Amino acid sequence: MTDMRVNIAGVELKNPIITASGTFGFAEEYGLYMDLSRLGAFTLKALTREPRMGNPPVRIAETASGILNSVGLQNPGVDEFLRTAWPRIKDIDTVKIANIAGACVEDYIYVAERLNDTAIDLFEVNVSCPNVKHGGVNFGTDERTLRRVVEEVKKISKKPLIVKLTPNVTHIADMAKAAADGGADALSLINTITGMAVNAATRKPVLANVTGGLSGPAIKPVALRMVWEVYRANLGLPIIGMGGIMTGEDAAEFMIAGADAVMVGTATMRNPSAAEEIGFELERFAGKAGLERICELAGSLNIE
Ligand code: DOR
Repeated sequence: MTDMRVNIAGVELKNPIITASGTFGFAEEYGLYMDLSRLGAFTLKALTREPRMGNPPVRIAETASGILNSVGLQNPGVDEFLRTAWPRIKDIDTVKIANIAGACVEDYIYVAERLNDTAIDLFEVNVSCPNVKHGGVNFGTDERTLRRVVEEVKKISKKPLIVKLTPNVTHIADMAKAAADGGADALSLINTITGMAVNAATRKPVLANVTGGLSGPAIKPVALRMVWEVYRANLGLPIIGMGGIMTGEDAAEFMIAGADAVMVGTATMRNPSAAEEIGFELERFAGKAGLERICELAGSLNIE
């Protein structure tokens, strides 16, 4: 039996499988389909200072090998979340990650301060949502602003910070370094890749917002390459890899490319118990490979 535990910024996860933000709501309803305590961790849908309705529909579109979304950070706002959903999920026996988003540094600080004294284990600073004009993507594509937002949240945060990177840049390792310089304790990547879908018959965009973020198997090779580039940059930070992980073997591939843990997103939208199944598959893979500890996989890419 392989020891499946991994450590992310001082927080021990019972295994490397984490559900990705925005694909798992506030976790509660997924308890109908799986044993939530079997997850290494779950990540909450992005929380902002004020409630947000998100973008108008249509805001989800299926493509041949991925999903386009332009949700636009819909959420009830951090205060309403704490009043309603949080009491129902706070005792679930696994690590809890809050994804934090904002339009300015003060927004991130507000949300982090409201969550500081809760049993949330880690913050994931979302600097990479592609679907709102001033909702984070600017932070994630500019090294100086990225570093600054991380620095400011770090000053007041009582939790370790995971910084979630956008793939919509040319040099992902430079962005990872900016986040590290700002004080990130871990990195997660990749958020969705900006894309669009067109209806030829009507000549209209499929999404009301025209563009959206692409996720799923379509982006896996890009995500693997980016994880590998960040790993090779040797920043000394744990890496959480994601982008089209549908099977345990996909998860293993991300770890081999340099990830310490992985996030499962689109797979969960197709099959609500996918994360649990991927966890079992990864454990079987590790057993067959004769691994004593799953963390041996991280960065084990075999290149001459
Ligand atoms: O693709 C995404 N969609 N990434 C995010 O970070 C947020 C989300 C949304 O709410 O639009």
